[in-house]
Amino acid sequence: MSEYGIDGLRGRKVIVTGGAGFIGSHLCEGLVEVGADVICMDDLSAGKTTNVRHLEGRNNFHFVEMDVCDDSAAMDRVFEGVDTVFHNAASKKNICLINPHRDLEVNAGGALNLLKMTMKHGVRKFVQASTGSVYGEPQIFPTTESHPFEPVSYYGVSKLAGERYVDVFHRLYGLDTTILRYFHVYGPRQESNEFGGVVSIFLRRITQGENPVVFGHGEQVRSFTWVRDLVEANLRVATNPVATGKAYNAASGIRVTINELARGMLDILDKDGALSIEHGEPLIGDIMEFDVANGAIREDLGLTFEADFWGTLRTALGDVDSFLGRTQPATAS
Ligand SMILES: NC(=O)c1ccc[n+]([C@@H]2O[C@H](COP(=O)([O-])OP(=O)(O)OC[C@H]3O[C@@H](n4cnc5c(N)ncnc54)[C@H](O)[C@@H]3O)[C@@H](O)[C@H]2O)c1
Repeated sequence: MSEYGIDGLRGRKVIVTGGAGFIGSHLCEGLVEVGADVICMDDLSAGKTTNVRHLEGRNNFHFVEMDVCDDSAAMDRVFEGVDTVFHNAASKKNICLINPHRDLEVNAGGALNLLKMTMKHGVRKFVQASTGSVYGEPQIFPTTESHPFEPVSYYGVSKLAGERYVDVFHRLYGLDTTILRYFHVYGPRQESNEFGGVVSIFLRRITQGENPVVFGHGEQVRSFTWVRDLVEANLRVATNPVATGKAYNAASGIRVTINELARGMLDILDKDGALSIEHGEPLIGDIMEFDVANGAIREDLGLTFEADFWGTLRTALGDVDSFLGRTQPATAS
């Protein structure tokens, strides 16, 4: 764990929104481990209490079922004495197609509501989880943080609006903020349904004896990032002043195609020959190429990303039930 995280967050009251989701639950774990007083806030629209069940009973972990758009006195009470907000809650990418208004309400309006609460209650730090989708189809490689914003999805637009609100609060009021743009995160407890991540979806299908389905030709490049590296990124930006007012690409920089992923997973799970890759219709708006520059966060914060993608994946897939969120770790890891 981070030297900054351990020294800086021990005993501090922090809120993790979306804490019962995939990334948020890992962040809660990391924060509990460094001794922060963690409030996990989630409306359970997509998250599950089982994702944080192993943290229940820890005296520095508290779950609050609440919508990030709630601006009532109940939200004021949660914000009392808070040092840092880690804003991870979001309406998922696929849900935005079904209900773009709700997407805007949560991803932009929710961020605005939390920023106002942050100012009102004198919260020290606001860390915003954002996404590479704010760039749209990247035009410049490797893609740095100064790439133009050309989102090509409702989700990208609403997450960009959330980012812009964060930036405005930094510029207008000097609020200590940091934006982390995530890309293709993978790890235990990611959903394996149609709203989930490709690693979990392939894992579920392969372990059920079904072929992995690749949309389109499968040569789409992804920058798979190990979820625990993002926990470290959050801990570091929360307590290092160098990150104030900045936006960082928080991505491994690894380049793996979807075909390579499917082949590699069949190999790791020993299903070569028994199963094969199926190709489905290309997804509308699917981005073909990612080559993400992560030099800024590495240099500013000394962050290193898991470079051995296949080794990490092989180890993680050693416990399929835990990866698919069917079993939880016994204690915070
Ligand atoms: N997983 C990825 O690869 C990825 C990539 C880029 C960015 N992100 C960002 O990371 C963050 C976490 O994503 P995730 O993959 O863990 O998704 P997730 O769906 O697993 O977690 C999001 C959580 O937010 C909660 N939530 C949704 N609306 C809410 C609301 N109105 N109030 C309170 N809680 C609400 C959901 O119940 C869920 O638990 C999001 O901000 C997302 O935009 C994720």
